[in-house]
Amino acid sequence: MDVKIVKTQSPKAKPDMATVPFGTYFSDHMFLMDYSIDKGWYDPRIVPYAPLEVEPCSTIMQYASEVFEGLKAYRTPEGKVQLFRPDENAKRMNNSAERMALPKIDVDEMVGYMKKFVEVEKDWVPSDPGTSLYLRPFIYADDPCLSLHPYHKAVFCIIACPVGNYFPDGMKPAPILIEKDDVRAVRGGTGFAKCGGNYAGAMHAGERAEKNGFSQVLWIDGVERKYVEEAGGMNVMFKINGEIVTPELNGSVLPGITRKSSLEIVKDWGMKATERLITVEELIKDAESGALEEAWMVGTAAVVCPIGELAYEDKRCVINGGKIGEVTNKLYEDLTAIQWGRVPDRYGWNVTVD
Ligand code: COI
Repeated sequence: MDVKIVKTQSPKAKPDMATVPFGTYFSDHMFLMDYSIDKGWYDPRIVPYAPLEVEPCSTIMQYASEVFEGLKAYRTPEGKVQLFRPDENAKRMNNSAERMALPKIDVDEMVGYMKKFVEVEKDWVPSDPGTSLYLRPFIYADDPCLSLHPYHKAVFCIIACPVGNYFPDGMKPAPILIEKDDVRAVRGGTGFAKCGGNYAGAMHAGERAEKNGFSQVLWIDGVERKYVEEAGGMNVMFKINGEIVTPELNGSVLPGITRKSSLEIVKDWGMKATERLITVEELIKDAESGALEEAWMVGTAAVVCPIGELAYEDKRCVINGGKIGEVTNKLYEDLTAIQWGRVPDRYGWNVTVD
């Protein structure tokens, strides 16, 4: 793999992992590669982390033409560095890119670039318990032109930040507001793609929820306005009458990699796990009767996050007495033990970097 490497002349101090907020402190380098319609992808390089040069008229600035991924590099107890399911991120990035008319990158090559980048940034993979190096690969269109036409130029970039817990207060059951007004996605839209615009459009409802004391919103479908879809930045899972259920992937839900891995794990434990439509009505009824035994969110950044309370209109339903459920906790322990290499990787999910 021919990647030009230009090392920084002024390496930064590593942050205090006990206090560094999620996504705020970046490593010494970044990966860059350019695309033009004539040359395809070219000039892969690792260079010192620095501001990007973007023209004010660029497609990314004007039309938000961007897709991204989030994955983590973990340090094992033996000191090795491994990536969790990077091939899944690469495949999803291409699906997102296709939806946004951005150029794709060969999956093996993309994984190769991620590995090369982490190899260079190896010292940035922290070893403190519960920490990792979060990678943020992204592709954006960079045509210096205001007219709407197929893109001629794009950039692929990877940046990295050492992270601890996504939530500053640790794994604490979160109060979640079922969002009635704003809509995140509709089938045929961009809901299944990991594009920046989906998150930008979610800020308004997220801000309102936070102001009212909620951790984030739970979206409902944009067509019938009755099915639960996903939380602010994560997928959701429920334990109802002993069975795991999660909203099915119907085109407007993000196909989460932690979601997929969690389903495989709970099925392996022998639990029944179903992907299906779940109505808000059913969820509230089950929460009130106690049939909804546990609820949690899953995503790369936070891994597993318990839901302690669901609010909808004037109802506020406490789940599992507001405590972390048994399955939620076991899933967190099992999944993170694989990711950090504390137990053998029975699924072959980890990819060693060095
Ligand atoms: C992730 O979990 O990696 C995400 O992309 C969520 C994010 C918006 C922080």
